[in-house]
Amino acid sequence: MHFLKIANLQGMKVSFFRLDSIGEEIKEDLIRIIESGRLTRGEFTEKFEEAFKNFLGVRWVKTVNSGTTALYAALRALDVNDKYVVIPALSFMATVDAVLLAGGIPLVIDVDETYTMDVNQLEDALKRYDVKVILPVHLFGNMADMPSINWLAQKYGAYVLEDAAQAHGALLEDIKAGAWGDISAFSFYATKNVSMGEGGTVAVKNPSLVEKVKKLLDFGDTPAFNFRLSEFQCAVGLNSLRRLKENNRRRREIAQRYNKSFKGIFQLQKERGYCVYHVYSLRHPKRDLIREKLEKKGIATKVYYPYLLHELRNTPHLSTSKAKKFKKELFALPIYPSLTDEEINYVISTLLEVVQNL
Ligand SMILES: Cc1ncc(COP(=O)(O)O)c(C=O)c1O
Repeated sequence: MHFLKIANLQGMKVSFFRLDSIGEEIKEDLIRIIESGRLTRGEFTEKFEEAFKNFLGVRWVKTVNSGTTALYAALRALDVNDKYVVIPALSFMATVDAVLLAGGIPLVIDVDETYTMDVNQLEDALKRYDVKVILPVHLFGNMADMPSINWLAQKYGAYVLEDAAQAHGALLEDIKAGAWGDISAFSFYATKNVSMGEGGTVAVKNPSLVEKVKKLLDFGDTPAFNFRLSEFQCAVGLNSLRRLKENNRRRREIAQRYNKSFKGIFQLQKERGYCVYHVYSLRHPKRDLIREKLEKKGIATKVYYPYLLHELRNTPHLSTSKAKKFKKELFALPIYPSLTDEEINYVISTLLEVVQNL
């Protein structure tokens, strides 16, 4: 029986990402949009913004067409032109690009074992530079040290903009990612924990910033952008938001099984708060060889990220020794709500076998 099970698993393929199946109700919503003739700025946009605002517990939410434009709009509202914006070395390139596009100077600092901004180094940066904005990233769904970041922001007179693109529903001290800072940015890209295919949102907590963001995004007195989403995207997003809690629970369940199996063999991400595991990443000095062997056994993996942000865009930085080491060792395993128990078992047993035979 046991042999049969192993034999069945040989030749199995585990893709890096798989979309959830979509329910009947979303089909009805999409048809309703077409029949209504109202393809943009209608009831689904309104419903999604209201639902996301209540979900986060912030003052105001405005959907935009991507996480990158959400970051960009937030940075423009914070008026970072020629000002320093502190960012962590390890993130998707949009984090640094949005700062550059908004005219700011990205100042890159190291990350710690949680893969989020190192707050000890943050204080060094704040002492040495006149920083306008601190931009923590809740990488892989793990919360940055927001209590320390907010405290330092107050002490040194900086704003806090959270990049919560990977952290829908992550929590620290019962406050959600995206509800800690003055303002935050989310992405609803296809693989994100809340997804619309493409999309994003700016979420504002600091009342003085609401009008500034509105001006940038609404045609009127000042030159503005059209970063709007269609009704279709908001209907898909609303459906995805409804399933978030259950999906995050399943992501955490998978991560816990991985953690239990790989503890002591790989370096694991240190959790802070309620991590929602947008990505499950672990570290090993022989990362490239392991990935090659897993690929041969049908298991897809990825490297987040093969670059550090200051190296990518040649920007000012402090010492980033930890991020440099992590960059060489990190790799990510498949993690998504529809991953089956059989697939999880296959990933675990194959990876353990690979690492024992290196
Ligand atoms: C940390 C981070 N910031 C920003 C973005 C940009 O989001 P988008 O791809 O929707 O522009 C992403 C997503 O890909 C991300 O992972």
